[in-house]
Amino acid sequence: MLQTIPLHNDFGVELPGIDLKEATHDFLYPELRAAFEEHSLLLIRGQDWSDEDILRFGRLFGPIENRTDGPDFVSAVSNVRPDGSVLLPDALRLKDLQANMLWHTDSTFLPVPSLANIITARVVPTSGGTTELVSTRAGLARLPQHLRDALAGAFEHRLTHSRRKIDPDLAQADHITKWTGQTWRGIWTNPVNGQDAAYIASHACGIAGMDAGPAQDLIDEIIDALTPEDAIYAHQWQVGDVLIWDERATLHRAMPWPYEQPRTLASICVSASAADGLDTLRPSA
Ligand SMILES: [Fe+2]
Repeated sequence: MLQTIPLHNDFGVELPGIDLKEATHDFLYPELRAAFEEHSLLLIRGQDWSDEDILRFGRLFGPIENRTDGPDFVSAVSNVRPDGSVLLPDALRLKDLQANMLWHTDSTFLPVPSLANIITARVVPTSGGTTELVSTRAGLARLPQHLRDALAGAFEHRLTHSRRKIDPDLAQADHITKWTGQTWRGIWTNPVNGQDAAYIASHACGIAGMDAGPAQDLIDEIIDALTPEDAIYAHQWQVGDVLIWDERATLHRAMPWPYEQPRTLASICVSASAADGLDTLRPSA
């Protein structure tokens, strides 16, 4: 039985005394997975692990999300360039990072969206750079009825939509435009415990059967209602911290830091599968 320390009234636990490198399909992972299903957000501190360790651990949850034709890899969420200098303020890559500051859940625009994000801190700034999260399971239960009704509809998600909010040039970059839209139900039911969560993101650009303007107003109203100040867990990173969050039941956003300082998180997403309830998310289901 894992020891758990609550992070927030709505969701999230810290799991002390764990070395994630020891996890296998039969050891530690079953308890971690059960905690993931129940709490939506796990914090494990003090991990010292390589990219290979992270990928091996991630595969316990499912296939590693890979947007390239090459082998799986760990993404550096970083403002550090290969030569060690930091990105300039107008760099498109920095704007890509800034687009992460819109409330979202990852990869809703991919044909197979994410189940989990596994992310660890390697270089942290002296201030700022927190990651903020909310539970969309607890949030859904608090929404007024008209917003719950709206989430019963089908939502279109496009990466170009969220990037255009930051910079029109960013929205035209090849790595953004290569992803066409996907449509998902606005509620993801967890198949393990039957709990519903709102499934929405900054990438949401339309609702089936509605004009674009009113749909965007409704999407904005839903995200605002899911993210009041008191619903937020803000994680102040320390080197070696690992967060594992359930993409089906949370929203997250990055917060700014002094960009002259280097900051590097290492991140992978794990793709969702039918066993995670993906099939029931399709509007045709
Ligand atoms: Fe993200």
